[in-house]
Amino acid sequence: MTAPHPLDSRADIDFVLALRRRWSDRLYPELRREFDAVADAAAAADRQDAGKVTETLPLYPWFAWMERGSQKMLWRAVERSVADAPPLELPAAPKGSLELHPEMEMPAWYTDWDIHVQPGGVWQTDMSARTYELGAKLVMLGDNDDYAFHRRFVETSLAPLKGRTVTRLVDVGCGFGKSTWPLKRAFPDAEVIGLDLAAPCLRMAHIKAEQQGLAIRFIQANAEATGLEAASADLVTSTMLIHEMPLPALEAMLAESARILKPGGILRFLDFHYTGDGFRDFAMHEHGARNNEPFMPGMMGADIEGMCTRAGLANVRWVAFDERGGGRLDTLAWPKRAEWHFPWAVLEAERPS
Ligand SMILES: C[S@@+](CC[C@H](N)C(=O)[O-])C[C@H]1O[C@@H](n2cnc3c(N)ncnc32)[C@H](O)[C@@H]1O
Repeated sequence: MTAPHPLDSRADIDFVLALRRRWSDRLYPELRREFDAVADAAAAADRQDAGKVTETLPLYPWFAWMERGSQKMLWRAVERSVADAPPLELPAAPKGSLELHPEMEMPAWYTDWDIHVQPGGVWQTDMSARTYELGAKLVMLGDNDDYAFHRRFVETSLAPLKGRTVTRLVDVGCGFGKSTWPLKRAFPDAEVIGLDLAAPCLRMAHIKAEQQGLAIRFIQANAEATGLEAASADLVTSTMLIHEMPLPALEAMLAESARILKPGGILRFLDFHYTGDGFRDFAMHEHGARNNEPFMPGMMGADIEGMCTRAGLANVRWVAFDERGGGRLDTLAWPKRAEWHFPWAVLEAERPS
């Protein structure tokens, strides 16, 4: 089989990106118009009622098919595009470290699903991380190519740490590192640890951190039992992780985060939250199913504040996060936008002093 010409694979990527933008900018608002024309007050405010209405709309099958179909196309295009990428080079004399544990057991809920419809998930081969890296840019519709989203999270969500002596920060479910690098930039004197189950992602996170001159400790570990010392961290973060976990694992992760936080230490998890807009919440709920994120609806419907309280955490709240504007908002309300966009929110809590 001959390798695809590089221009061919670029054309694939451009096509998928254009298709997804069309889905977000044209199809979603049009479906919303159809919905608004027939929805009653109950459907406007409740995702289950909204679902009953939306499923009868002429555009809905097309909208739903395009969401899943374009995601499948995306991974094909990305796999072709990264297939011949040269290996990443670790710079000489690394400042940080990489601790892998090939013997560790992966949870079945993690390995049984091809998360985000990515064939083989993010954990099986080194190419999984290369594929995930490019796929993540396309999923954000090219809006996060320089990882401004993650920088904004660090810049706007960690105010209580300002002026404190900060010695250890832990980023759980760090993936290929885009959520961990800005933490080290913001707190250059602290020990920054990135944890993940996926060895390929950790290898990439480590190499790319070293290429940026960032001394970060990356460890292969399960968020439910990190192996880190009790009361050792000023901050535990996760971004885009908790909607990927089943509820018992999430509850265990919150207990583990509370355990490793110092008294007065803070927890900041960036994820999704229902908005109270029935149509938008139904679309998000269905996105979980169409995008192979089976635990997302459970997480969004769960009493996570209660889980935090049971874990011994205090001052628990969710606030909205505006990824295209000012980042963390001090309220659980989002700016209005016509196009499809995720209802990002930050779960905030602290371990009492
Ligand atoms: C959507 S990615 C987010 C990565 C990164 N935080 C970011 O914002 O780009 C979720 C990551 O969490 C990891 N993960 C899922 N469950 C985990 C667990 N129980 N323990 C540690 N990492 C986990 C996955 O391997 C994946 O890399």
